[in-house]
Amino acid sequence: MKIHSITCLLILFLLIYIADVISAGRDFYKILNLPRTATLNQIKKSYRKLAKELHPDKNNNDPKAQERFQDLGAAYEALSDSDKRKIYDKHGEDGLKRQGGDDSFHDPFSSFFGDFFHFGGSRDDGHNQVPRGGDLVVDLYVTLEEVYNGNFIEVVRAKPVAKQTAGSRKCNCRMEMRTTQMGPGRFQMMQEQVCDECPNIKFVTEEMVLEIEVEAGVADGYQIPFIAEGEPHIEGEPGDLKFIIRIQKHSRFERKNNDLYTNLTITLQDALNGFDVSFPHLDGHNVTIKREKITWPGARIKKKGEGIPQHDQNNIVGDLYVTIDVDFPKGEFNDEQREAIKTLLHQESKNQLYNGL
Ligand SMILES: *[C@@H]1O[C@H](CO)[C@@H](O)[C@H](O)[C@H]1NC(C)=O
Ligand SMILES: *[C@@H]1O[C@H](CO)[C@@H](O)[C@H](O)[C@H]1NC(C)=O
Repeated sequence: MKIHSITCLLILFLLIYIADVISAGRDFYKILNLPRTATLNQIKKSYRKLAKELHPDKNNNDPKAQERFQDLGAAYEALSDSDKRKIYDKHGEDGLKRQGGDDSFHDPFSSFFGDFFHFGGSRDDGHNQVPRGGDLVVDLYVTLEEVYNGNFIEVVRAKPVAKQTAGSRKCNCRMEMRTTQMGPGRFQMMQEQVCDECPNIKFVTEEMVLEIEVEAGVADGYQIPFIAEGEPHIEGEPGDLKFIIRIQKHSRFERKNNDLYTNLTITLQDALNGFDVSFPHLDGHNVTIKREKITWPGARIKKKGEGIPQHDQNNIVGDLYVTIDVDFPKGEFNDEQREAIKTLLHQESKNQLYNGL
C-alpha cells in the first residue's frame, strides 16, 4: 500500500517534470550539440559548423531543414548573448519570450559566411552578365596562440548598403540600332543609347559584425571568404570580402607545418648533472623536460604531441622539438679546479678537424 503511493508520487513528479521541460521550450544546448558549460567560443564554433551543414540551400530534399536551421539560429541568438543566456539558463525559452524585447529574429548566418542569399554556389558559374562590385582582400594578423587554440575574431565592417531614395535614375543602359526613314528609299541607321528608369539608390553605411573563425591549425595564407560582403555595385551584385590569415612571428616558438620548434638555454652545470624544467605552452599548459643524462649543445629533444593540431583533422597533432643551447661559465679556473675537472671528466685530449657541412 505504502509502496504503491510512493510510486504514484514518483510518477506525478515525473509528469510535472516532463510538463516543465516541454513548456520550457526548445533545448538550445542540445540543438548546438554542446554541454551547458560551453564557452562562447565553443558556441560560435558549433553554430558555424552546424549552420554550414543545415543551411536550407544545401538540404533541398529535406522539408525539416528550414525548421532545424531556424532552431539553430534561435539557439545561437540566445546563447551567444550573455544576458539572454542567463535568462535562458534560469527560465528556458519561455523566460526569454516573457522578457519580450525585440521579437525581430536576426539571422546570424551572414555574420559567419556573408550574405545569406548568395550561399550555395549560384555565384561561381561565372557566366552570368550581372556586373559585380570589386572583391576586397584583407590581411588578418593572428597570433600563434590563436592558431594553436582556435579563436573567433569579431570584425566590424562598415558596409555600404543600397537604399531606395526619392527620384529615379537611368539604368540598364545599352546601345540599340535605330533606323529612320529620311526620304523615299533612304534610311539612316544610328546607334543610340537606351536606358530604363530605375528607382534612385543611395549608399548608406551600415555596421555589421563579422565573426571570423581562426580554426586550430590554420596555415599562413589561408583564405576565409565572406560572400557578397565586398564592394557593392549599383546595378549588380556586390563582390566578396576575403580575409587572408597571416600568422605573426612568435617570441618563443617557430612553426613548420604541424611541428613547433624552440630553443632552450641551460647552464653547463645542468647540462652535466641533468635538469628538470617546465615552460608554458601556447595554451598555458606546462611542458616538462627532465633529463638525468648529460646533455650536449645542439641536442634536440622531441616532445611528442606538443606541436600544432592539423587543420583538417585536429586529432592529429605535430611534435615539439627543443634544441638545447648550453650557457658556458665565463672566466677562468685556477690550477686546483683544473685538476679537479680533469679527475672528474677524465677525457683524453682530442683535436680533430672536420667539415661540418
Ligand atoms: C633557435 O636558434 C637558432 C640558432 O640561433 C635560430 O636560427 C632559430 O630561429 C631559433 N629558433 C627559435 C624558435 O627561436
Ligand atoms: C607551470 O610551472 C610553473 C613553474 O614550473 C608553475 O609555477 C605553474 O603553476 C605551472 N603551471 C601550470 C598550469 O601547471
